[in-house]
Amino acid sequence: MSTDVNNSAPLQASEGQPLEERGNNRSQRPESDAFKDFMGSKWAPSTAQAPAKAEVAVHAARRRRAISEKFQGERLVIPAGPLKVRSNDTDYRFRPHSGFAHLTGLGLDHEPEAVLVLEPTAESAGDDGGHHHATLYFRPLSGRDTPEFYANARYGEFWIGPRPTLPELNQLLDLDTADLSELEVAITKDAGVVGVGGMRIRLLREVDMNVDALVDTSRINTGVDLEESDKLDALLAEALSELRLLKDEWEIAEIKKAVAATINGFHEVVKVLPRAITHDRGERVVEGAFFARAREEGNDLGYDTIAAAGNNATILHWIRNNGRVNAGDLLLLDAGVEADSLYTADVTRTLPVNGSFSEIQRKIYQAVLDAADAGFAAAQPGAKFRDVHTAAVTVLAERLDEWGVLPVSLDEALSEHGQHHRRWMPHGTSHHLGLDVHDCAQAKRELYLDGILTEGMVFTIEPGLYFKNEDLAVPEEYRGIGIRIEDDILMTADGPVNLSAALPRKPDEVESWMAGIYSPTGE
Ligand code: GLY
Ligand code: MN
Ligand code: MN
Repeated sequence: MSTDVNNSAPLQASEGQPLEERGNNRSQRPESDAFKDFMGSKWAPSTAQAPAKAEVAVHAARRRRAISEKFQGERLVIPAGPLKVRSNDTDYRFRPHSGFAHLTGLGLDHEPEAVLVLEPTAESAGDDGGHHHATLYFRPLSGRDTPEFYANARYGEFWIGPRPTLPELNQLLDLDTADLSELEVAITKDAGVVGVGGMRIRLLREVDMNVDALVDTSRINTGVDLEESDKLDALLAEALSELRLLKDEWEIAEIKKAVAATINGFHEVVKVLPRAITHDRGERVVEGAFFARAREEGNDLGYDTIAAAGNNATILHWIRNNGRVNAGDLLLLDAGVEADSLYTADVTRTLPVNGSFSEIQRKIYQAVLDAADAGFAAAQPGAKFRDVHTAAVTVLAERLDEWGVLPVSLDEALSEHGQHHRRWMPHGTSHHLGLDVHDCAQAKRELYLDGILTEGMVFTIEPGLYFKNEDLAVPEEYRGIGIRIEDDILMTADGPVNLSAALPRKPDEVESWMAGIYSPTGE
């Protein structure tokens, strides 16, 4: 056989079956009518019970009313998003868009391709006194007598288990439901230019490309200005984000559950540290232990765990987690359990791998802890969100100045044209927390950074100091140390409550907590 590439045939598509038909080339499913008939018969009736109305339904209805109030007379289209391909014909687990989850109450797994449509109604004729009537369009479970049941690996019950029917989600959510096949008409009917008889559609964009295309086509066909529409759409995304700035009691309970499960995960990690130390990829042992506990308790993660030991702790988004965990180093673990409701925790602790902090580690840790406490003290109802950050980084700057690390005076570093201390703490101190780990991200600056801390807000306080191995601006003994302490805070009328306080923060308490779980040195 010749191996001379010059002799090989020119690269070209082979003849025969077109490429687009080749996805099923490994399927050996019988095509006979006898097989199809047999697959559609002799199944016992479903034993699924009609669901009771979900506790969240009343809260979701209130949220829809708030949005309805803002966008009277407009059709609002809020997609859940489609399944996302991980590889070829294998999808990621489904997670709906958080704006959709918030307005429907649906959480994990529900419902790919679903779209919530809020249809404007005549004055006061809407749901619960609102100005819209809500309908959830989705792809309901197909009967066992349909080919989808056994032949559709993405949606068929035989492959992925039962999905809800229209009446089931109607009862669960107390929300009208309709088949996805009716969506196009529901979105496009009477749509057009406002003022000449058309109805404005406002869309939560970039969640489902098919829905974007449907709305864009309708806009083009009816002469609606696309650029102007983009801006109007952005205001819907902003409003949905701002609606989540204040958490209701149901949301707060879900976040508390997520935090409690996260604390359990941290316990699990301390248990496996002796094994992590002996492993080539000890950070994976840590990551796996946290995840295993989350899964055992029926949960998932709100974001990829950062399991960062030694110098890796100075890499802010270290999720490769393939490094060693050496005794004598610090382990920065930033991890958060996400409940089925999709509310997540976001907690960081920095632990001495061998169970006790060295002098230099303790000194830097204490500075970060003091910064966190200063942030906590500044986080009072009526203060600005940004005040928390200012308080925390000021403490860090002062400490860096005391240590002789700042290249300029403290005043110059703290001034707007300086900020040298931020080399070692380049991220923000706080973000809102909820359905998204970085929640409410589309909110206006006036309501976010410049917003007033208000009862019902949930946010993190997470200062850190990160001295990289290669950082020639600090003494050698600081290098390779990264420390962050991150807690989840609920603002109440009486002040901030640290929801993650059950996880020790003070260095002595961290050491005795670890000692109570295992003997890291094996003694
Ligand atoms: N885990 C991401 C963050 O702390 O913001
Ligand atoms: Mn965070
Ligand atoms: Mn975090």
